Amino acid sequence: MRRPIIAGNWKMHLGRLDEALPFVRSIRHALNEIEGVDRVLCPPYTVLAAVAEALAATKIGVGAQNLHWEDRGAHTGEISPGMLAECCQFVIMGHSERRASGGEGETDKAVQRKLRAALAHGLTPILCIGENLAQNEAGQTHEFVSSQIRSALNDLSPDDAQKCVIAYEPIWAIGTGKAATPADANRIIGLTVRGPIAEMFGGTVAEAIRVQYGGSVNADNIAGFMAMPEIDGALVGGASLKPDFVELVRRAAPTTA
Ligand code: 13P
Repeated sequence: MRRPIIAGNWKMHLGRLDEALPFVRSIRHALNEIEGVDRVLCPPYTVLAAVAEALAATKIGVGAQNLHWEDRGAHTGEISPGMLAECCQFVIMGHSERRASGGEGETDKAVQRKLRAALAHGLTPILCIGENLAQNEAGQTHEFVSSQIRSALNDLSPDDAQKCVIAYEPIWAIGTGKAATPADANRIIGLTVRGPIAEMFGGTVAEAIRVQYGGSVNADNIAGFMAMPEIDGALVGGASLKPDFVELVRRAAPTTA
């Protein structure tokens, strides 16, 4: 059985101490009490250490939103995996907002390096993949998303591959209020995400690796995604910035019948 995982990607929000800490203190008790689901907050770098400290006595994980692959060096403005390992356990990489050519232009090659660097430092990568609207409408989702996976996980050991969390985030569903249907997300995660992983690392790894859906997830629609057999949780943007995030995580927890 795969343990569900919900991660809140704060993006460039709540990056000041006087906004991040009151928010974290207001939700941490209730968030910590929820059983059976991993929950992770991914704040901006400016408050990462302070949020980690505020969550130190809890079971709530902390993640960064990016990293550089080198340990140190002349890389102005970058943060190394070793620096992150001091205060967090997870790191998002390959988010479409960073891959976008108008954004940071993060390439498949860079994502590949980041993933290895994170694993080498004991960080759990949250690897984002997903197609844009034009690719979706042109029927290119499978080809595009599976090539992102093959590139990022290329040549890893099965053991390392299994440690990753993958977030399937169709770009057209991010921040638009138009989530994929649970059935579509389930089908793509099964065929297009687990499929290539099974070919690369075998069925055991494909069955064990945790795959989230991301894109306009909220407390009202999370249960539909969690009911799907291939979906193990969500990477949540906007809805992770509000107290309602606790309810979202609660609804993602397995129900004891
Ligand atoms: P929204 O939940 O705001 O659509 O963002 C999704 C996302 O990009 C998470 O990484």
